[in-house]
Parts: sequence; C-alpha cells; structure tokens
Amino acid sequence: MRQSSLVVVANRLPIDDSVAPDGACEWRRSPGGLVSALHPLLRQTPATWVGWAGGTGPAPVLPDVDGVHMQTVPLSADDLRDHYEGFANATLWPLYHDAVEQPEYHRRWWEAYQRVNQRFAEATAEVADPGAVVWVQDYHLQLVPGLLRELRPDLRIGFFLHVPFPPPELFMQLPRRAELLRGMLGADLIGFQRAQAAHNFAQLASKVLGLPATDRRIGVQDRVVRIGAYPVSIDTAEMAALAGRPDVTARARRLRHDLGDPERVILSLDRMDYTKGIEQRLKAYSELLASGDVKVRDTVLVQVAMPSRERVGQYQILRERIEREVGRINGEFGRVGEPAIHYLTQPFDRAELAALYRVADVMAVTPLRDGMNLVAKEYVAARVDDTGALLLSEFAGAAAELDQAYLVNPHDLEGLKQGILSALRAGPDDVGDRMRAMRDHLHRHDIRAWARSYLSALDDTGSLLTRLSST
Ligand code: G6P
Repeated sequence: MRQSSLVVVANRLPIDDSVAPDGACEWRRSPGGLVSALHPLLRQTPATWVGWAGGTGPAPVLPDVDGVHMQTVPLSADDLRDHYEGFANATLWPLYHDAVEQPEYHRRWWEAYQRVNQRFAEATAEVADPGAVVWVQDYHLQLVPGLLRELRPDLRIGFFLHVPFPPPELFMQLPRRAELLRGMLGADLIGFQRAQAAHNFAQLASKVLGLPATDRRIGVQDRVVRIGAYPVSIDTAEMAALAGRPDVTARARRLRHDLGDPERVILSLDRMDYTKGIEQRLKAYSELLASGDVKVRDTVLVQVAMPSRERVGQYQILRERIEREVGRINGEFGRVGEPAIHYLTQPFDRAELAALYRVADVMAVTPLRDGMNLVAKEYVAARVDDTGALLLSEFAGAAAELDQAYLVNPHDLEGLKQGILSALRAGPDDVGDRMRAMRDHLHRHDIRAWARSYLSALDDTGSLLTRLSST
C-alpha cells in the first residue's frame, strides 16, 4: 500500500467518469471545487485522496489522477441508502440547514453512518505516512477524526465542515448528538465557514459534553482542539481567465442573441435543493410579472437547476413542484418564442458556465441557508469588466464576505421582490463600484489562500508547508 504525507478524505473522490472516444471508461479530475483548491498542494507531495467513486459494489482500482493517488472506499446498496441518502442527506443535511425540511431520524441510518465512517477511517489509516497530515471534509464523515485518532494517534488530523453548523436548539434534536460531537473532536483543528458556526460548536461542546470551551479552543482530556472560521473560496484567477477568453466572450454574445437580445438577463444556477430558495424566488418573480414591474419582452430569467440526490423523497417532491411552477409561469406570462423563464436541468462544461455568467446582468443567489455558495463567488470572478449585479441572500455564508452585493432576506417575499427590482434597475456606477470591491476581495481570498491558511494552522509545526512553500 502506498503511503502519503498528505491525505484528503472526502465522501466523493475528485473525479468524474466519462467515456473516451474508443468507448473505454476514463476518469478525469472533476472541474472546480475542492480539488482545484488542493491540487497545487497535493501534486507537490506524495498525496492520497480517500473517497467514494460513486455507484455500489466493490471499489474500482483507479489510476492516479494528475499525480494524486486515488484510494477508493466501496459503498454497498444498503450503505448508499442508509449512509449517503439517509443519515447524511435526510438527517444531517436538513437539520444543519435550519430544518427547512423536516430531518428524519432512523436507528438503521445511524448504524450505517458509523459503519461507513469506520471504513473511511481504516482506509485512511492504511495510506497515511507516520506523522502525516490528514484533512477530513464535510458532514458525511464527522466520526472519522475520532475513529482515526484511535487507530493512528501519530497523525495530525484536520476536519472542515463545508455546510452550516446549526445553533444548539436545533442540534440538540439529534438522537446521537454526543457521539457526533466527540467524533469531530478527534481532530486537532475544526474549521467552519463562519465564526457563528464555531461559536455554536463551542456552546454544544460545553453543554452536551461538559468540556471547557471558548470560540477558539476546546479542552479534551489532555489535548486542546482548536476551532475557527476559514471561509472557503474559488480559483478566482482560473475563472477570470476562462471568462475573458475570446471564445467565451463570443459564446456569451451568442447566448444573449438566442435569448432574444433582452435588456436584462437574470441568471440563477442552483443544485436542485430545497435549501436554495428556488420556489421562493419563482414566486417573487411571478408576482413581479403579474404586477407588470417586470416585462417578459425586456427581461428574461434563466433558471438552471441541476438534479441532485434524486432518490431522496424530499428532492423528488421539490423537482415536481418547481417544474409545475415553471410551467405555470411560462403558460401565464410567456409568448410564442418568448418564455418568461428559460429552465434547464442539463450539465454544462466550465466554458459554457463562464459564458452564462458573462451574459447575466443580474445573478440571483437566494438560498434559505447555505454554508458558503461558490456560485456567487464564481459569478463575481467571471465579471472581468466590473459589470453585473449580484443579488445575494443574507443566509449564504458568502454574504459575510461579499457584503457589497444586493443583500436580501429570501423569506421576505416583498423584500425579495424589491431586491430583484433594485438589482435590475441599479445604475452602472453603483454596480461597478460594488463589483470592483468584490472582485478585489476574491483575488486576495482565493481557494489557495483558503487551503494555505487552514493547513498552516493545522500543521503548526510547519513541516508540511515548509516543503510545499514554493507553490
Ligand atoms: C454540498 C456538500 C458537498 C457535496 C455537494 C454535492 O456542497 O457540502 O459535500 O459533495 O453538496 O452533493 P452530493 O450529494 O452530490 O455529493
């Protein structure tokens, strides 16, 4: 078994399978996200990524991807149902997002969560060098830090939660709340998106486990676990370069033409998820069409909703409701050749995505709750000419940094309507000033800065980062 001095552990491996021209299955590094962030660091050192390749049954043996070793963890059909779709996405996900849908609690799901976390911990223990740095990601794997520490006390263990961490009143609902907290506390450093989340966690460690806790440090027996906010970001330079490419600029012009050369294009791009506030946004938009404040001839809305977690009941119901509502709005307000909403559920490649960002005069990102929301950041990075209005929910983690956006409370229908109108009607100077400030922020706080600040805090002896200092 190959050993690595840096190991990333996440539910998903950072790869997609695609079919090569000769019909063979090929694995490619998936674009964007965590993998781009970490890749410059990972390829500098013998690094391994431990994760699930998707699907069920025996784990495929995968080739290295761009110099990073892929260690696959298998999931059975029961694991998929009870760990991924069950405890992770029908218990923790809704609970951590303000319980905007009812979290479900089933003992069988908890057993699967423990079993799968144990499997990830064992796979990690096998590939980590003595004293290696291990970075565990997200809510699917909250028990891994504790389990791994039992197996390998020599490791430096970090945990980062990409989603919100809820206030104690909500977290206290969880039947296995103490075990989950203890699992996370197996780490040396626990990172959250926002300072409020670290505060919530400290309160719970004190209330549920009786540990001495501040918003920065928690005492666990003879150890000190550090906690803090490390807001995740994007590869700003990569998105800006892509969006500025001549073919992408030409594609954006063509898209605008295909949309009927309207005065204003509004874009929303979400994973199809009840946390994203898609229904609330459609309702607000429909009322603006009904009142005549927005006219189909002048303004088009492009709503991209990428299907997600399609076997989970709440997601199936949501998709049906959204599609019914889009149909109703188009039936009521559209004209032949002029739909009110262009609704798409197909995947896009990165260049097409960048062209969509460039065509959008207004980007509406209005989740009810979101850990960060990288789409908001990507839009800002793509606006290379400092135009474009970002309409952003106060309940997205990104709002803490991008406070020059047009901020709205998506639960307040009238406020949401006003926000849409303000963004549509804003003058070029106001839009330009806000966009410049946000772009400037993202150039300084990109994904490399995020990975570096987290890893240097985790690896406070500096051994790993000294070796990687040239990246
Ligand atoms: C969120 C989570 C990620 C997850 C992603 C896509 O951003 O924080 O961990 O990978 O959603 O969801 P999926 O269920 O397809 O992995």
